[in-house]
Amino acid sequence: MDDTAAWWRSAVIYQIYPRSFADGNGDGLGDLRGVRAHLDHLAALGVDAVWFNPWYASPQADAGYDVSDYRAIDPVFGSLEEAEELIQEAHALGIKIITDVVPNHCSDQHPWFQEALRTGPGSAARDLFWFRPGRGADGELPPNEWQSIFGGPAWTRTKNPDGTPGEWYLHLFAAEQPDLNWDNPKVREEFEDVLRFWFDRGADGVRIDSAALLLKDRTLADFDQADPPNPHPFEDRDEVHDVYRVWREIADSYPDKRALIGEVWLPDADRFAAYMRPDELHTAFNFAFLGCAWQADALRTVIDETLAVHAPVGAPATWVLSNHDVPRHVTRYGRADTSFTLDYRQLGAYTDRELGLRRSRAALLLNLALPGSVYLYQGEELGLEEVEDIPDELRQDPMFFRTHGANPGRDGCRVPLPWSGSAAPFGFSPADATDSPWLPQPATWADRTVEALAGDPDSMLGLYRRAIALRRTLAVLGDGPMNWLAAPAGVLSFERPGAEPVVCMVNLSEGPVALAPHAEILLTSGPLTAEGELPVDTAVWLRIA
Ligand code: NOJ
Repeated sequence: MDDTAAWWRSAVIYQIYPRSFADGNGDGLGDLRGVRAHLDHLAALGVDAVWFNPWYASPQADAGYDVSDYRAIDPVFGSLEEAEELIQEAHALGIKIITDVVPNHCSDQHPWFQEALRTGPGSAARDLFWFRPGRGADGELPPNEWQSIFGGPAWTRTKNPDGTPGEWYLHLFAAEQPDLNWDNPKVREEFEDVLRFWFDRGADGVRIDSAALLLKDRTLADFDQADPPNPHPFEDRDEVHDVYRVWREIADSYPDKRALIGEVWLPDADRFAAYMRPDELHTAFNFAFLGCAWQADALRTVIDETLAVHAPVGAPATWVLSNHDVPRHVTRYGRADTSFTLDYRQLGAYTDRELGLRRSRAALLLNLALPGSVYLYQGEELGLEEVEDIPDELRQDPMFFRTHGANPGRDGCRVPLPWSGSAAPFGFSPADATDSPWLPQPATWADRTVEALAGDPDSMLGLYRRAIALRRTLAVLGDGPMNWLAAPAGVLSFERPGAEPVVCMVNLSEGPVALAPHAEILLTSGPLTAEGELPVDTAVWLRIA
């Protein structure tokens, strides 16, 4: 297959967070039955592919990112047979499937880790992880001072098989997520086989969790977290690229090639792009864009940088504004400070919802007009906001617990979707459900259900459907070149050149602006002014010839 025309270069990809999409069996948790009952929503939205957050067997200590069996579906979600049927049903609708592979760590309940605990220090089973004796007279101190990304120490002490205090093991995330030792060939072979397992079942691609963290400095040396050394002891080490070269060979061994999509959070744009060299991953999430403030110059800079770093490696850019780890962008864009970093969540800051919605609508047209592929997070098509008032006793994110509440965590963007009706569970669960949704849905979501929005072409859902459908018909959108056009300060204006060129304008200035010369207005994110000008925080697509 010719990679230049590959589906992932232009796709609109919808992210399903299985526990919050739709609950088919009434236990308050989303499941595969629920997804299968709502495939029509994805078809009506017009997306090309769906990425599923982990659906594997898991104790759910980190909502499925703690996997105990990479080849089984967790019973709370359904069965392997149902997953296979779901993949076929989606394919029949022309929708591709991306599964999530979690290679940096597994669950502490994974048979490998359980065996490692049983067999004790020095065993081959322990070498699949990072077990080390503690420091101090009795080994009572962790092997080093590394901190978990979720807060607290990155080490937990084990008990020996005879019950005495034993070695410690490394976990960059929660204690229930021991890090795997990627220097051990058995770990590599296992994940190569897991990839084939899902590709053989029809997965069209995989999203790779924490893709830059796999390899560690074997000396486990301490370092200054405020000023980490280069290379970093566990982030973005050069050796990690060998892993993805092998994965690429596996993906390429399928006649209809499968996509490798990296979750790579790195500040250095060139180091980020290195993951997408022609013999490595196909694409990676553009977190620089996600974190960018709603500000014309900043956006233009990040767009230019994105295109500039992708070009030499020949990879398509991706455009993403929300996912299951970050506050929803309707909320971010409604704040005085619209920027975001993983350490800067601003939860509880004042939000102007109408402003956030208006900007989110404009951002949709921006994203869908930029060169490359676009990721949508379930619920953004309904204009859902971050839920910031979840009672502490209902929170489930380990980030909340490990920071002792200092960081409220990510539950606020994981609240179950509202489908229909005027009261919770808003059709998320069936009428005879035995349990409430696993997180409470705000009463205000009565006017944000799929049912409430579907009939109105001007609703958020209506705009998503119209924009995605139109994008399919406009040959110049998706992958391909773009040129900036001259525009007033605070206005983004660019052309997608081709036989039938399209111009996208986004007004982030202080007042309405005139439209660029055009033959036809194709779509606007909101009404134009009475004079036919583009209002503030509004975007338009124009046919210019
Ligand atoms: C990144 C995932 O997106 C996040 O949800 C998860 O908690 C961590 N990786 C650990 O797997």
